[in-house]
Formats: sequence, C-alpha cells, structure tokens
Amino acid sequence: MRCDSAESATTSDAAESAFGLFRRPLPTTNQGPDAPRPRPRAPYFHNGFAADLDAVVDFYDTRFGIGFTKQEKSDLITFLRSL
Ligand code: HEM
Repeated sequence: MRCDSAESATTSDAAESAFGLFRRPLPTTNQGPDAPRPRPRAPYFHNGFAADLDAVVDFYDTRFGIGFTKQEKSDLITFLRSL
C-alpha cells in the first residue's frame, strides 16, 4: 500500500482493537511520580535466591569484595528496610 493512499488513513478493525489496548483510560488512582510503588520483598532477586536482606548484602559483599564490617552491614540493612 502506498503511504499516501486513502487506505493508510483509515484503520482496520484488527489494528483498531490492537491499538485500543493502549487507549484504555487510566485508572483514577494516583499514577504519578508520587504513586506508591511495589517494593521488593523476600525472597529477593528474580529467582529468589536471597532469602532475606542479610543474604542480599552478603551476596554483594562477596561479589564485589566490599568487606563490610558487621556495623556497616547492619546499617545498610536498616536503611534498606526503611525504603
Ligand atoms: C551493596 C550494594 C547493593 C545493594 C544493597 C543492592 C540491593 C538490591 C536488592 C535488595 C535487590 C533485590 C530486588 C528484588 O528482589 O527485586 C537488588 C537487585 C538487583 N541489583 Fe542490587 N544492590 C546493590 C548493588 C548493586 C550493583 C553494584 C549492581 C550492578 C552492578 C546491582 C544490580 C542489581 C540488579 C541487576 C538487580 C536485579 C537482580 C535480579 O532480580 O536477579 N545492585 N539489589
């Protein structure tokens, strides 16, 4: 079909319903930047290999050779829980 043909200006039923997916009205809830966002919960990571935040921090500590002290580790976990 040529791009300037009249046909290109009309939408087929199939395209109409496909694009309709994107034209659903937004729910009335707050969807802006202040919207509450779901937060990760245990078990963590996409396959849930970290049972708790302790395991998450241990993972990064080992993976990146950070060497967190006990205090740093517990501070970080407290911080993560506050998010
Ligand atoms: C001490 C530093 C870090 C902490 C405490 C931390 C914390 C976390 C936590 C709690 C999650 C789990 C989210 C969930 O369960 O959905 C996560 C996921 C992830 N983080 Fe980090 N993160 C750190 C550093 C990093 C760094 C340096 C990178 C990249 C180089 C990174 C990349 C990712 C990625 C890609 C995921 C998703 C992994 C998956 O779902 O399997 N993080 N992080």
